[in-house]
Amino acid sequence: MKGRFIAFEGGEGAGKSTQVRLLADVLRTRGVEVDVTREPGGTPGAEAIRSLLLDPPGKGWGAKAEALLFAAARADHVAERIRPAIAAGTWVICDRFVDSSRAYQGGAGGLGDEAITALHAFGSDNLRPDLTILLEADEDKVSRRLAERDGEASDAIGGRGPEYHREVAASFRRLAEADPEVFAIIDGNGDPNEVHSRVLKAIASLIPEST
Ligand code: TYD
Repeated sequence: MKGRFIAFEGGEGAGKSTQVRLLADVLRTRGVEVDVTREPGGTPGAEAIRSLLLDPPGKGWGAKAEALLFAAARADHVAERIRPAIAAGTWVICDRFVDSSRAYQGGAGGLGDEAITALHAFGSDNLRPDLTILLEADEDKVSRRLAERDGEASDAIGGRGPEYHREVAASFRRLAEADPEVFAIIDGNGDPNEVHSRVLKAIASLIPEST
């Protein structure tokens, strides 16, 4: 049997990594083989591209070069790790996937959705998750969480201004509302265990009771 592919999306500090971990734990206790991964990254090549993106040499990347680098990292990740895992019956849980490129580079970065989806069709044969969980958190809570987590040390993209990140959040919401079959919008505010229960509810139809 083929594995499932679940992506978590959302702005910075929305609690994605914690929720990825909690979901993976539950699935494993139900006997599901799980591969937890992230973007940009997930393979040696894609991790190398991640460093180029988050800590860019020189004056940084233009919008198009940035989108191409994300798409290149994803193409490697999909071909070398995600597709083989799914084919082997493993569930893949990915911290960010193509909808991050659609919201950041396509929306906030101004390249538009068509360009990003074209890159994804070329680079990754348009692989889409079975379900994308969009975690939304209030802006002031996120700022506090990020200050605790990163201090002054945000990366090249995380460090962009509040306007950019507001546009990212609005883009995610538009994408999710336009495609309710493949997105679940989850309130990411509150205790991580409460958020986890919401995630489990959204994903219930995909999860086996036990195997
Ligand atoms: P990540 O380290 O996962 O950030 P966070 O933990 O704050 O969620 O991701 C790195 C940054 O890359 C983050 O600012 C979002 C950005 N990003 C894009 O702009 N486009 C993409 O396609 C992806 C996958 C990430």
